[in-house]
Amino acid sequence: MSTTSLSTTVPRGSDSSGEAHRAGACRLPGRVRRSAVMSTAAAADSAFLRACRREPLPHAPVWFMRQAGRALPEYRRLREGIGMLESCRRADLVTEITLQPVRRLGVDAAILFSDIVVPLMAVGVDLDIVPGVGPVVAEPFRDRADLDRLPELTADHVPYVAEAVRGLVQELGGTPLIGFAGAPFTLASYLVEGGPSRNHARTKALMYGDPPLWSALLDRLAGITLAFLRVQVDAGASAVQLFDSWVGALPAADYRDLVMPHSARVLAGTADVPRIHFGVGTGELLHDMGAAGADVVGVDWRVPLGEAARRVGPGRALQGNLDPTLVFAPPDVVERKVREVVEAGRAAEGHVFNLGHGVLPETDPDVLARVVELVHSS
Ligand code: CP3
Repeated sequence: MSTTSLSTTVPRGSDSSGEAHRAGACRLPGRVRRSAVMSTAAAADSAFLRACRREPLPHAPVWFMRQAGRALPEYRRLREGIGMLESCRRADLVTEITLQPVRRLGVDAAILFSDIVVPLMAVGVDLDIVPGVGPVVAEPFRDRADLDRLPELTADHVPYVAEAVRGLVQELGGTPLIGFAGAPFTLASYLVEGGPSRNHARTKALMYGDPPLWSALLDRLAGITLAFLRVQVDAGASAVQLFDSWVGALPAADYRDLVMPHSARVLAGTADVPRIHFGVGTGELLHDMGAAGADVVGVDWRVPLGEAARRVGPGRALQGNLDPTLVFAPPDVVERKVREVVEAGRAAEGHVFNLGHGVLPETDPDVLARVVELVHSS
């Protein structure tokens, strides 16, 4: 059996309207007899991992942040009546939801279906993900006593993650699986604010007002994040992405002093696989986020990739950065913008095509599939 073909497991870009697809959409996948060692070896040769390693390629690989989710009708059907966090705790659902965009869109990598708050939930933080809002924490972090109530994470807290990753690595064959976690700053923001926040005012008040407590909190969160990523890598994930979605709220000097050492500890602990590091509005931080220990720096849509390559400097690949709202533009505009991003990406030593942030729920999956074809043909 060819280890690079997905035909026996995950049909690439399969017909999304066909009977077979509809019938399969609500069924959970059967196991395939493929050894994890074989799958990992095939994935190592994939375009995605080669781009992360800055090896030459005929075309850029492509995947999309939030490629699993509400944009896909088969996701909406599967999630009916099941809460977001519950679905993250069920290895069978995690497996199926992770595979859905690989089947439908023909992307070059899968990303584990989970959420950045899953490790916090796993160690006992009382939180929920409210549709249309995001993560909401029942008792926001306020003082040192709250730190004492935040335990370190062990593999026993997240058995469903290791189980899902092991199964996925087999199902995916030569398609690599990206593991992920939220970075300490972004997790701290949800804990301290109690939910999504525009200005991160309470977070910054703690950071500037009580540096020792801030440092202790980020140290604890770095430990939780690293342990969560180790579970994924040890179970067979081929790469990791550390999401520091909201760290663009900080000036570079404060990022370096108050955040970067903690992110660097996480990235150093996963150096056995390629590490992608991403945030939104991080144009001023791109160099430092690379220097924190990333192999690939994720770039949002605000900074053209040529300029991002200059800011990041040598020795790192880039990921990005089509504006996620561009999928709503007319087809000729989508095509022109995709080709512009591909062209700009040639300035980087390696380029993984992606959106500049996650897929918006209203996105037409057919447009995403078309973007994949365009990237592969550019
Ligand atoms: O396909 C993938 O990329 C993997 C799945 C994934 C999810 N969340 C699933 C999810 C990933 C990588 C995340 C990371 C995540 N979660 C981040 C970092 C990435 C980023 O967007 O910057 C952040 C900040 C979160 C927190 C979070 N979780 C938000 C802001 C929301 C949206 C809330 C809403 O309903 O608008 C979530 C919920 C969430 N996480 C959904 C999915 C598919 C939607 C839940 C649903 O389907 O009801």
